[in-house]
Amino acid sequence: MLPLLAAYGALAPSPYNIQPWEFRVTAEALEICLDSGRGAPLGTAAHREPVIGCGAALFNARVALRHFGYHDAVQLFPDRSDERTIARIRAGGPLRESDYNRALFHAIPHRHTVRPPGVPFEPRDVPPALIDGLVTAARSCGAWLHVVRSAEDRRALVDLVFEAGEESGAAAGVLGSEDGMDAPADGWASQDADRVAHAIAEAEAHRAGRMLHDAPVVAVLGTESDDPAAWVVAGEALEHLLLRAAAEGVFAAYANQPLRVLGLRPWVRSVARHPGEAHVLFGLGFAPPPAGPPRRRASDVLA
Ligand SMILES: Cc1cc2nc3c(=O)[nH]c(=O)nc-3n(C[C@H](O)[C@H](O)[C@H](O)COP(=O)(O)O)c2cc1C
Repeated sequence: MLPLLAAYGALAPSPYNIQPWEFRVTAEALEICLDSGRGAPLGTAAHREPVIGCGAALFNARVALRHFGYHDAVQLFPDRSDERTIARIRAGGPLRESDYNRALFHAIPHRHTVRPPGVPFEPRDVPPALIDGLVTAARSCGAWLHVVRSAEDRRALVDLVFEAGEESGAAAGVLGSEDGMDAPADGWASQDADRVAHAIAEAEAHRAGRMLHDAPVVAVLGTESDDPAAWVVAGEALEHLLLRAAAEGVFAAYANQPLRVLGLRPWVRSVARHPGEAHVLFGLGFAPPPAGPPRRRASDVLA
């Protein structure tokens, strides 16, 4: 069963589809580890989004374990000598699965990202009860979700996305590699992006800004503290609310560009008006189920 949990974990979202996880199966536990390809110490900003991806993978594994009839027992950062072991998950006692968990579980393979300029969101409102449910989902994981209500705040966030496009060419991805990884070989936070990468990043930011302008719902996800444990919480909260939304036919498109530019990050936080740090900026709406990019082979992510 533990390798199966890893398979569900690997369906989680991750920045640029880098799939920054490695799953270790031991006699009685599944460990989710940050892929050791990154040399910098764990607390550095370059790890924020990859750790959020690992948190999302953890959430999927927990939902799957409950679906298979067990309580989930989770330790975050269980190994002091290995900071890259993000979580250890064990099966607890028997559990009768709730309808809510079943709905989340069945949404795991269908949750994907809406990618502009592909099929856009449908021009209809997301029901307020669902929006409240997403806020509650984030809170139940220990994070906050700020739903943008005013036109001024939305405009401010759109402007920040455009500004990020101008300032940063560093996060541009190289699309279409065989295993589905979109990241440039020298690390997606590289400071020496060339002019082509810069142009790609700017075009991506423009698409994301237009998406945010038109999305039926705009939201910011954050946590009160800002450290690797909080990033895991943010990832779990993100996947929780995305699965809750996907179960109802609502999907997300991201506009995280301003959160990758040090000087713009505080402005996103100030629009969100919540204590702590903002991690993910995205739009939500009804859309035809989006298709996802390929994933790494199981043999590459199972240690
Ligand atoms: C922390 C985080 C940040 C992301 N930022 C962006 C983004 O700025 N733009 C974008 O198009 N997708 C973004 N994504 C979505 C990923 O590109 C997507 O999850 C990945 O390609 C896998 O595809 P899927 O979500 O369709 O399964 C982000 C995902 C995560 C977890």
